[in-house]
Amino acid sequence: MKPNLHKIKALVFDAYGTLLDVKSLDERLSYHFNEQAGQINSIWRQKQLQYTWLRSLMDRYKPFAQVTREALDFACKDVGVDLSEEIMADLMDHYYVLNSFPEVPNLLKELSKSHVCAVLSNADMPMLQKACDHNGITQFLDAILTVDFARVNKPAPQVYELATQHFLCEREEIAFISSNTWDVAGAKSFGFKSIWLNRTNGTMETLGFDPDWTIHYLEELI
Ligand code: LAC
Repeated sequence: MKPNLHKIKALVFDAYGTLLDVKSLDERLSYHFNEQAGQINSIWRQKQLQYTWLRSLMDRYKPFAQVTREALDFACKDVGVDLSEEIMADLMDHYYVLNSFPEVPNLLKELSKSHVCAVLSNADMPMLQKACDHNGITQFLDAILTVDFARVNKPAPQVYELATQHFLCEREEIAFISSNTWDVAGAKSFGFKSIWLNRTNGTMETLGFDPDWTIHYLEELI
């Protein structure tokens, strides 16, 4: 069923995995780690998310860039490859300019003609600003919201509250779009209209906070 957006004040997008393709790092990882690149990238992404959850529960918030470095350090140690300062710096440089999924710039251009559009991400502002500028999507966004303002990570309610505070609207007037199932559940739990972008035929969490709509392509929002 197509999302019903007519009472929606703002479309708020998750960044990594939804607008930005973390797998676009595979090529750079292959340059450094050859056939172990895919395994390292997968562990890196999972550990990056785990560390945001752990640091939030420990009340030890650190910017996403640091958590991303800590997670890469773990991934390389876990796989048993050396991670030099130079390779860390090179991979982090590439992380700051991750490519968006190919359809994203034109889709946001179209949506921004009729909707307020924003990003709400675990990433810190320098990472988000650079990635949005790199992909030419900053011009289509009315706001770039970072958890840095709340100093706690998704799915903490304080993070989603950044959007209702910024747009001065009710929770159900925000449509939140994410490919990350745990983020979709967190947004639904908070009270957003929650849209799961299920590009890979994944499985939704069984936490009892199901999305209002499930789409397989961002174009279904148009
Ligand atoms: C983000 C990650 C969780 O952008 O995708 O918040």
